[in-house]
Amino acid sequence: MSHQLGRNSFGDPANAGQLMTIEEAHALLNEWVPNERLRLHMKQVAAVMKAWAIGKENADAQTALKWELAGLLHDADWEKYPEEHCRIIIEELEKRNIDPEVIHCIASHGPGYFGVEPNNTMDKMIYAFDELSGFVHAAALIRPGRYEGLEVKSVLKRLKSPAFAAQVSREDINDAISRINYSLEEIIQFIIDHQKNVN
Ligand SMILES: [Fe+2]
Ligand SMILES: [Fe+2]
Repeated sequence: MSHQLGRNSFGDPANAGQLMTIEEAHALLNEWVPNERLRLHMKQVAAVMKAWAIGKENADAQTALKWELAGLLHDADWEKYPEEHCRIIIEELEKRNIDPEVIHCIASHGPGYFGVEPNNTMDKMIYAFDELSGFVHAAALIRPGRYEGLEVKSVLKRLKSPAFAAQVSREDINDAISRINYSLEEIIQFIIDHQKNVN
């Protein structure tokens, strides 16, 4: 199975600035992703992306929505079309004339799989957040208090234990962190802070 997208250009530059409302994105998600656990993953990545855009990138409302939409929809086709992830959601967003930056961001959320390099900060951050968000959630779920009192150091310890959430690629995490000017510790803390109340 190959997830390589085989192209580097996504959407139409003429659609720059064209987004959908967050309600429309949730409707798409509810229709495409019956699995609640998977929907939660996307809502968590969306919340973290939005918080980062506003808190670290000084994004205006429109730009923050772009980050949020990319997070919310990045795995939208995973449940129904695992073999064709993420080609199907990309084509859907192209059909809907969505801003090419949102589509490129989704296309680059796993450069090793899709063959699309993260270009701008939004691309690099979704790559950094995606796997780690799921990993942090897994680390929270095994604790009686879940996110309550969850510390970065305990997440780091789990990362060093290959058997824990073994499907999460430590290599991808390290690669993603190497592309940004923030430490693994800072990113984990940010994820804990901004996804703990998402449900
Ligand atoms: Fe994915
Ligand atoms: Fe994901």
